[in-house]
Amino acid sequence: MKTKIDVLVVGGNGGIGSALVQAFLEQGEQFFVHGTWCHNRPHFHHDRLSWHNVDIADEASIEALAGKFGKLDYLINAVGVLHNDEGQPEKSISQFNPDFFLMNARVNAMPSLLLAKHFQRALKAAGKSVFAALSAKVGSVGGNRMGGWYSYRTSKAALNQALKTLSIEWHRTLPGCCVATLHPGTADTALSKPFQSGVSKDKLFTPQHSATCLLEIITDLTPEQTGRFWAWDGSELPW
Ligand SMILES: NC(=O)c1ccc[n+]([C@@H]2O[C@H](COP(=O)([O-])OP(=O)(O)OC[C@H]3O[C@@H](n4cnc5c(N)ncnc54)[C@H](OP(=O)(O)O)[C@@H]3O)[C@@H](O)[C@H]2O)c1
Repeated sequence: MKTKIDVLVVGGNGGIGSALVQAFLEQGEQFFVHGTWCHNRPHFHHDRLSWHNVDIADEASIEALAGKFGKLDYLINAVGVLHNDEGQPEKSISQFNPDFFLMNARVNAMPSLLLAKHFQRALKAAGKSVFAALSAKVGSVGGNRMGGWYSYRTSKAALNQALKTLSIEWHRTLPGCCVATLHPGTADTALSKPFQSGVSKDKLFTPQHSATCLLEIITDLTPEQTGRFWAWDGSELPW
């Protein structure tokens, strides 16, 4: 009898999130997957998959979700926003809008901290675990050559710093957990749709390809590798 492996994909209804849900289910019958959604109810069902409607910016909602888990082996946060009805990424500082900036911070940076706070007990109970969030290469301060996209870039840089900080604390208190920040490449999803014109065909991945690459990284991670920023191809990115 194989040991049950529990996986939570936050934003499991998104482009990359749903491909991650599918990819984890395909790993084998010992994988039991939980996915969350916020606004758009998913239509995909499987006997080893449970869906939870969660507002990832609301602490009580995350605390209630965490209370359902005795242990958790993998937590992947695949939630993110780049553009919506409230605004578009800025080409120049003159387009900067405080409300759009705060919305980016609320969706892209804060939820991973709330998830870490409330899921540390379940991750610890697993012994060896992974806590990962989908960031973006544009969140790298050291790798910034293009400028622009102030709100998204800054929110992803904040997410990177949050996870690096968490990895330092958990190295002491949850030594079995690997904290990882991930860049999925450019995947063909609703998030990237309006910005794909400059992307060559071979650099525009299907969400399934991004998810397969990320899953390979995630399942190979060891606690000794905590606190790093990984690209889809397994290379490390500068903070
Ligand atoms: N696609 C790319 O090329 C690319 C590149 C670099 C990084 N990334 C990162 O990869 C992650 C996944 O992106 P994706 O391309 O899969 O995007 P997507 O298809 O647009 O999915 C976005 C996900 O985030 C959730 N979400 C968005 N706004 C939300 C809000 N206000 N409150 C709660 N949930 C919200 C959505 O859930 P609901 O639909 O229920 O709101 C959905 O699960 C993101 O963190 C993104 O920044 C993507």
